[in-house]
Amino acid sequence: MARKTYLIANWKMNPTTLSEAKRLFDGVKKPAAAARNVTTVICPPFVFLPTLMRAYSGKAIALGGQNAFFEKKGSYTGEVSPAMLKDVGATYVILGHSERRGMGEDNALVRKKVEAARAEGLTVVLCVGERERDRGGGYLSFIEEELASALKGLEPKHARRLIVAYEPIWAIGKSAEEAMHAEEVHEMVIFIRKVLTKLFAKPVALAAPVLYGGSVEPANCLELFDHGHVDGFLVGHASRVPRDFAAMLAALDRAS
Ligand code: PGA
Repeated sequence: MARKTYLIANWKMNPTTLSEAKRLFDGVKKPAAAARNVTTVICPPFVFLPTLMRAYSGKAIALGGQNAFFEKKGSYTGEVSPAMLKDVGATYVILGHSERRGMGEDNALVRKKVEAARAEGLTVVLCVGERERDRGGGYLSFIEEELASALKGLEPKHARRLIVAYEPIWAIGKSAEEAMHAEEVHEMVIFIRKVLTKLFAKPVALAAPVLYGGSVEPANCLELFDHGHVDGFLVGHASRVPRDFAAMLAALDRAS
């Protein structure tokens, strides 16, 4: 079976208004429909999800949350559950993003969230990535620990709806020139699959999509795809520029 290629937009806490969100979404509808070889996922802030869902009857774009809590409902002020995301039509959820980890989320919490999202049938986009690279290779054990603890006890059959997004923190929010190089991305893809093989089994490890994120832009997207051997990208700032997002969709569509 041919591998799927993903382009996942992480809008983060943007834009400020619903009308801007609609405009942004409208700007990527056509390019997403044209890119038949790419699975396009848009992860807007929670509050925009229902409106975008209602306004869109196409199939070319899936919607996702940028986070979710581990309980289904209850006294958890400010939280949103996987069941709620599912109810408004989201099918994906980003978990363990470094910006959330930076606000205090630890591996144990990410683990609980992965389990809760999986139980609701959401596809989990699990983010892992080191803060910096040390010469001793400590970042590799750091990534291994992030994966192992987030996926601890997960049954192999449940890993079917799992996407790993490798996002080195030092490469996030910069520009294409400062992003990771394709060869280094490739090394990390191999490493992540090795860890997944240890945690599950080889077929699961080979089947799981591994994405890269961190300053992916039209300028470096194709090079990273071709030589990084990733299954696609998790994109922040360039996903909020419809022209850039459309250019990346078209490039990945041709290359897939
Ligand atoms: P960036 O963000 O594309 O702006 O680097 C990626 C991310 O944080 O998911």
